[in-house]
Amino acid sequence: MTTESTLALPVGTTLDRFIMRQQESFAYAKGELSQLLRDIALASKIVGREINRAGLTDITGAFGRDNIQGESQQKLDVIANIRFKRALINGGEVCGILSEEEDDIIQTNNYNGKYVVAIDPLDGSSNIDVNVSIGTIFSIYRRVSPIGTPATFEDFMQGGRRQAAAGYILYGSSTVMVYTTGKGVNCFTYENSLGEFFFSNANIQMPVTGKIYSINDAYYDEFAPSIKSFIADMRVSSGAMARYIGSLVGDFHRNLLKGGIYLYPPTQKAKEGKLRLLYECYPLALILEQAGGRAIDGTQNILDIVPTKVHQRCVAYLGSKNLIDDLEQRVLNV
Ligand code: AHG
Ligand code: MN
Ligand code: MN
Repeated sequence: MTTESTLALPVGTTLDRFIMRQQESFAYAKGELSQLLRDIALASKIVGREINRAGLTDITGAFGRDNIQGESQQKLDVIANIRFKRALINGGEVCGILSEEEDDIIQTNNYNGKYVVAIDPLDGSSNIDVNVSIGTIFSIYRRVSPIGTPATFEDFMQGGRRQAAAGYILYGSSTVMVYTTGKGVNCFTYENSLGEFFFSNANIQMPVTGKIYSINDAYYDEFAPSIKSFIADMRVSSGAMARYIGSLVGDFHRNLLKGGIYLYPPTQKAKEGKLRLLYECYPLALILEQAGGRAIDGTQNILDIVPTKVHQRCVAYLGSKNLIDDLEQRVLNV
C-alpha cells in the first residue's frame, strides 16, 4: 500500500483504523509501532479526562517538589507522567522511557520492546491552573541496543533524524493528536462522547510564511541584535500578530496551521535556551520538516544537533520556511 492510499482515508476514520492502514504501507512492519501509538493515544485520553476535571478533584497546584530541571512540579505533571508511563509499560513495546519529570532513563523491564520513547508528559505547566491549553510531546526511536537487554543511554542519543515517529497531543478547546511517522503529518480530533480520536486534518502543510510571531517579550532586552531586528521587522509588517500562550504545544499548533514563527532565544537565565532537545525540540522539528516548515537553533537544523545529555536544552526557532530563512540570514550575518 502506498502513502497515497493511506492519505485517501476519509476524514472521520478512527485513529485506530488509520494507524492500522498506515502500518500496512510499511512492508515489514509487525505492528509494534502501531500498538505504541495506540498506547500513547489511550494515555492521552486518561490525562485529558484528568485535566477536564482538575478543578473538581484537587489536582491543580504545585506537587511540592522540583524536577531535574529545577522547575516546580505541578500535581498534573506528576499525574500525566504516571499515566503515560503506565500505558507505555503495560503496552510492552517500549524498553525504556525518558521523561521530563524524571532524572534518569526509566527501565520498563520489557527487554524485548523494540522502541524507546522520550516524552514531555505535560507541557505548559504555568497554564495548568488557569484553564488554558496544555499538551504532551513525544518522540519515538527504534532501539540500537540488543533486543532482550535493558534500554541504554545510546538508545536515546540517536539524534533527531533517527526518530521513528513524533507527535503531540494538545488539550485545547478540543483535544487533538498530531503525529508523523515520516510520511506526512496528520491530525486527529477527540470526540468526547464516543471516546475516540477521528482523522480530521490530512497531510498538514504549514503556510510557507505567516504573520504570527510567538515569543516571551519579557526577555526582549536580553536578546541578540539579530533577534531584536527580526522581531522589530515582524512588528511593522502588515497584518503582524503577536501570539504567545506560554504552552509550547498550543503556540506551535496554532502557528503550524496558520503560519508563523515561535522563538525561544537564549536568555540570561537560560543561556542554552529553555526548551528541551529530546522531548520538545526534536519531535516538533520533525513535524515541521514533514509539514514544509523549518526548525533551527540559530546555526543549524535542530534535527542535526548531536545530543550529549538526556535533558539537554536547546535554543529553538520553529516556524514557516520563509520566516526561518530570514531569521537564519540575520543570525549568520552578524
Ligand atoms: P514545561 O511546562 O513542560 O516545563 O514547558 C514549558 C515551556 C513551554 O511550554 C513554553 O513555551 C515555555 O516553557 C514558556 O516559557 P516562558 O514562561 O519562559 O516563556
Ligand atoms: Mn514542556
Ligand atoms: Mn512538561
